[in-house]
Parts: sequence; structure tokens; C-alpha cells
Amino acid sequence: MPSRYLVTAALPYSNNRLHVGHIAGAYLPADTYVRYLRAAGHDVRFICGSDDNGVAIEISALQEKSTPQEIAAFYHDQQARDFAGLGIDFDVYGGTHHPQYVALHEQFSQELFRRIHERGYFTKRQTKQLYDAQAGRFLPDRFVRGTCHHCGFARATGDQCEACGQMIEPLLLKSPVSVITGGPTEVRETTHWYLRLADFERPLQQWLETKQGQWRPNVLNFALGQIKRGLPERSMTRDISWGVPVPLDDPDARGKVLYVWFDAPIGYLSFTAAWCARHEGDWQAYQKWWCDPDSAIVHFIGEDNTVFHALTWPAMLMADGRTQLPAAVVANNFMNHKVAGELEKISKSTTAPDAPVWIEEYLRRRLDPSSLRYYLTAQAPEAARTAFDPDEFVARNNSELVAALGNFVNRALTFADRYFDRKVPDATAQTDADRAHWGRAAEALQRVGACLSEYRFRAGLEELMAYARLCNEYFSIRAPWASRKDNMPDCAATIATCVHAVQALAVMAWPFMPAVTGKLRTMLNQPAGPVRWEPPTPLPAGHSLGEPTILFAKLDPGALGVGA
Ligand code: MF3
Ligand code: ZN
Repeated sequence: MPSRYLVTAALPYSNNRLHVGHIAGAYLPADTYVRYLRAAGHDVRFICGSDDNGVAIEISALQEKSTPQEIAAFYHDQQARDFAGLGIDFDVYGGTHHPQYVALHEQFSQELFRRIHERGYFTKRQTKQLYDAQAGRFLPDRFVRGTCHHCGFARATGDQCEACGQMIEPLLLKSPVSVITGGPTEVRETTHWYLRLADFERPLQQWLETKQGQWRPNVLNFALGQIKRGLPERSMTRDISWGVPVPLDDPDARGKVLYVWFDAPIGYLSFTAAWCARHEGDWQAYQKWWCDPDSAIVHFIGEDNTVFHALTWPAMLMADGRTQLPAAVVANNFMNHKVAGELEKISKSTTAPDAPVWIEEYLRRRLDPSSLRYYLTAQAPEAARTAFDPDEFVARNNSELVAALGNFVNRALTFADRYFDRKVPDATAQTDADRAHWGRAAEALQRVGACLSEYRFRAGLEELMAYARLCNEYFSIRAPWASRKDNMPDCAATIATCVHAVQALAVMAWPFMPAVTGKLRTMLNQPAGPVRWEPPTPLPAGHSLGEPTILFAKLDPGALGVGA
């Protein structure tokens, strides 16, 4: 077991609002994992930030008649608010072009580029590139659209095909058009630096083989399949002006920037260094996380990032040779949106701007962040794409959070409130049934923890809910409302057991719904403070409890409808 973990979540492009698919894909599982690791006693840093460079940001700036700086700054702040609103709590939220981070980020990116260059893994090559004569610009990446040369998808962009996930060779795109003018493209000569990924096929394959049985098969099979087909060389420079300047003393490098997929993952490194500078006064302390095998690096990503995190990025790290490789790459699939019974992709162009699948809209309606975290984990696209279904969201909130988890807490604590003077009763008269239920808390904690440590978040949440249902069953079988009339010691032991179960639920809920832990602790009149992943020490008899309040609000059908 490593003693430290560096957990990252894919840097979102700072050109759009976040939606439930982003959250369910990378950020929520990462936050859940981090909370669990910390509760289990590990030293963890949780790194994220905005991906501010590259063509996507430039295109948004063109469309919104703004500048890349302004677009990146605006969405950086918006996304940071969305994360905070959902309790997704990074140690650092940097930005690859953010004023506070850009200097260190450029330093790291340029140094890595120069080092890979010196070690001879780039090929400098004159190539042909699509060009928009009307705009007077080259058309790298998303500046061009056309039909995928792998699968025939009609709206592939010049970087990657959204349908088949493979990388695109822009010159092979069928019927290419410029995204800038909508006009035709021509081919012109230019010079770029290519990373020879083929040099890393064998080491990558050997490394990936060691992950069999640990990583999810979706990532492993995809990466190994790509290696089998052969890894093409990839240009790591671009003919655009927005980004990190190419750090070579070579007239051919003038006016060029690094490919965004070269510098973006380096954000994980440079933001770690920024954290170390801020908190330890020494940016070089990043090495403790990146070079010491006693810390494990775990990347959380969405499915479309797999090729970069499982192949290109590890190849870059191998070419650099100074850091360790990721211990795990955890990818989720996409989450679609169910609208009037039909599945739709969530996007700026198709999704209503006030639909609560946009995090900003969800929060604006003052819906409970815990309910969203619950649903997105319960429906997490861990092995296949899933859908955000507003009707199902309401149904699960009401039948699971309200009727199972909230109901047990409410029954137990209002009973203590009413009949035990809002105090923890005496458990001396415990029966075998009580002791058995006491033991189930430890088992449930163990089971939830095992799931989370294996990145099985859905299964972990199901274990938590199974325990909550056992608590309800226990309450019904022990029937404290009956024992209250003829066997007060028995009734007291039952309610003391229930209070302990609420304490255990407060621990178990923490990775999934941290605000629920906060509410439960208030109801238990326990101080806030770090959560420890172990069976809680029972509150002593006579401990004054807090006021029992409603844990989850029941939602009306249609609460998540558009225009609601
Ligand atoms: N911005 C990319 C996306 O949204 C993800 C970048 S992840 C990083 O798909 F590794 F490059 F940081
Ligand atoms: Zn395709």
C-alpha cells in the first residue's frame, strides 16, 4: 500500500459550463475517492484546474467575440463555483493560462519539451497541413471538421473522433471544412515536432500488462488495442498563437506553441508544484509526489481522454524519464440526458440553457447537492454510458434518500428526542439482536471501503444503502414503540443501538455526500472534524443529542423539469 496519493481529475477546458456528465465522469468519483482515502488515514493531494490553452478556447473566443484570456478567466471562475457548490474540494484548482499559475506552468511545460527534445524522441518534420486561405490561418485540431477516417462519423474534429474515440489525422479527414469561416481548406507546408510514440510501444505495453486485474478493462483494452494497431507519431507543436511558446532556438519554431494535449497534463505537475510553493514555500517539493514510489498517482478522466492518459501522457513521462508513471487511470463513460423519453447528448447546442443538468442551473434552483451526488454515483457510467433521467432522479431521491436513509435517521432520532429527553439512552439491556446490529456497522464500513479502494463507487453506494435498509429492518423488528410500554430497558438498548447506527452512517456517507455527514453530526451534537474510516466510538449514555431535522427533502415530480 502506498502511503501517499496524488489524485487528479481531468482539467476541464475553460470554455463551457459544467454539466452532470462532467461531474459523473471524473470529478465526483475523484472527490469520493479522495474523501475515502483521507478518512482511511492516507496523505492525499487532490489536483485540478482549468485547461486554458488550445484551439477549443480560441474557437469559443471567436464565437463569443471575445479573447481567449477573457473566455478562460470567465469559465475558470464559473467552473470553480460549480465544483464548490457540489462539495468537490480540490487542494488546488489551477489554470494552465491563469495569471497565478501560468508562469510555473510554462516553466514546467517548456522544460519537459526541451528535455524530450534533447533525449531525441521528437522528429522535426516538414509536413502538409490544412489551411484556411480566407482567414489566413492553419487549421489544426478542432479548427477543422470532416468525416472520420476510422469510422465514418460525419462530424469528427481534426483532433479526435467523438464517435470512436480515436485520434484523427486531419489530412485523412473526408470533406474537411474550416470551422473559422465554414469554407473549404487547402494544404500548405509547415514544420512540426513529432513525438515518436512507436518508440514507446513495448514499454507501454509491458507497463499496461502489469495493470491487468487492477484497472478497469475499458481503459486497458482500449490502450492495448491501440498499441496492437501501432502508435503513430504525434505532432506536439501547433501553428497558433494561444498557448505555451515552443522553447527551441530554431527559426522554424517561431510563432508556434505546444500542442494543448502536451501542456495540459503537465498541469497536474505544475499545479502540484504551485501547491507546494504556496503551502511549503518550495515548488520543488512536487517531487515528493511525482518521483517517490511511496506515492501513487491516480488520474480520473472521462472516456474521451483515455488515449491521452493511458498512452500519450505515460509516453511523455517515459521520454522525460524523471517521474514515475500513473498508478491508475480511472475512466468513466459519458452520461446522456433523457428528455421526454429520448436520449440526448448534453451540449451547448442541443441542451436547454436552463436545464438543471447544467450544474449552475441545478444550484440556482437550490436543489440539494447531496441528492445530485447520490444520483450521479448511483447512475455512474462506470462500465457503459448511462443517462440522467429527471424522473428517475426524483423517484430515487424520494424512495431511497428520503424513504430509506432519511427515514431511519428520523425514526431513531425523533424517538430519542421524544421519549429519552433528547439524550442517548442506556444500552445495558442489549440483546443478541442489538449486538448483531452493532456488528453490521463494522461490516458495512469494511465493504464500502473495499469497493471505494477498487474504484467501484456505484457498488460502494449500494452497500451503504443496504446498511441503511438493514437499519430500518432492525428498527421495525425491535419495535421500540411497543417495548416503550412494557420494557423500558429493552427500548433504551434499541434506541442506543440506533444512535450508534446513525454515527456509522455519518462516517459512511462522507465520501459520497459530505454535507449529509455534517447534518448528521449536528443532529448527534458531535463536533465537526475529520472523519475516520472505522466503527465509531459509541456516544455515552446521557450524551445530549441535537435537534432532529429533515435529512433529505422530498421532491415533486417535475422538480427537475426544464423551466421548473
Ligand atoms: N481539457 C480536456 C477535456 O476536457 C482534458 C484535459 S486532461 C489533461 O477533455 F490531462 F490534459 F489535463
Ligand atoms: Zn471515428
